Amino acid sequence: MKELLNIMQKKQKKKPINNNPIGIFDSGFGGLTVMSEICKVLPYENLIYFGDTAHVPYGSKSQNTVIKFSKEIVSFLIKQKVKLIVIACNTATAFALPVLQKKFKIPIVGVIKPGAKISILASKNKKIGIIGTEGTINSKSYPKEINKLAKVKVYQQACPLFVPIVEEGFINCEFTYAIVQKYIQPLLNKKIDTIVLGCTHYPLLKNIIRKHLAGNITLIDSAQAISQEVKNILIEKNLLANNDKPYFKFYVSDNPLKFKKIGYRFFGREITNIKKIDLE
Ligand code: DGL
Repeated sequence: MKELLNIMQKKQKKKPINNNPIGIFDSGFGGLTVMSEICKVLPYENLIYFGDTAHVPYGSKSQNTVIKFSKEIVSFLIKQKVKLIVIACNTATAFALPVLQKKFKIPIVGVIKPGAKISILASKNKKIGIIGTEGTINSKSYPKEINKLAKVKVYQQACPLFVPIVEEGFINCEFTYAIVQKYIQPLLNKKIDTIVLGCTHYPLLKNIIRKHLAGNITLIDSAQAISQEVKNILIEKNLLANNDKPYFKFYVSDNPLKFKKIGYRFFGREITNIKKIDLE
């Protein structure tokens, strides 16, 4: 009887495990800033990253085009047997998240909601600034998400030059400083006390953006919030992994060598295991 009880207790304690990978995608390198946080919050997970380097930037493309690319990437990731997909791209989240969630059965999460939530918590004067690509800003996804949860004034600024600047690595140049000033000043004039980095490329400009901000302005990078959200979903759905030596695989639609060279800046560690693939 005692033995049976022991077996039953052990069974109850044993958590279900799912060692299938998590899929993460972006138009290019930006999503690596999110992946880098996911590695910290979920250190036992296998991760597969897809960077759509043949089609970057997404920010200036139409909604239908971004939806088409996103569907193809999600289908590819599902073929790799991922258990959950993170859209590590604000533009693709803004344009494609509801369509993807409707079309595919697998859990799919985007970066906008988690970023919106923490910006509300951070803002004391209830004036929040959003910077992002033209696509994200024109979609008004951030103001919509924020105003679903709180009555807050939201001011937006599209920063179309930021993605090429970051992709080319012009982070500490004088002209970058001037461009940052040009984009940020209209938000500062509105007396915002919180700015959301509404594009996963922008964390690389954090330091230079901070130089333009008074100490009382909070900068929100949604990478941490999305990682926590992913963890919560995995716990809730009993999908957590326990890999001692998790793998990271990278796929790109073009130029794997450039991805290896520049990706380091976004991911914070060397990128190996890259394959170029053609999506139909
Ligand atoms: N990193 C992407 C985002 O968060 C978009 C960059 C782009 O391709 O324009 O919006």
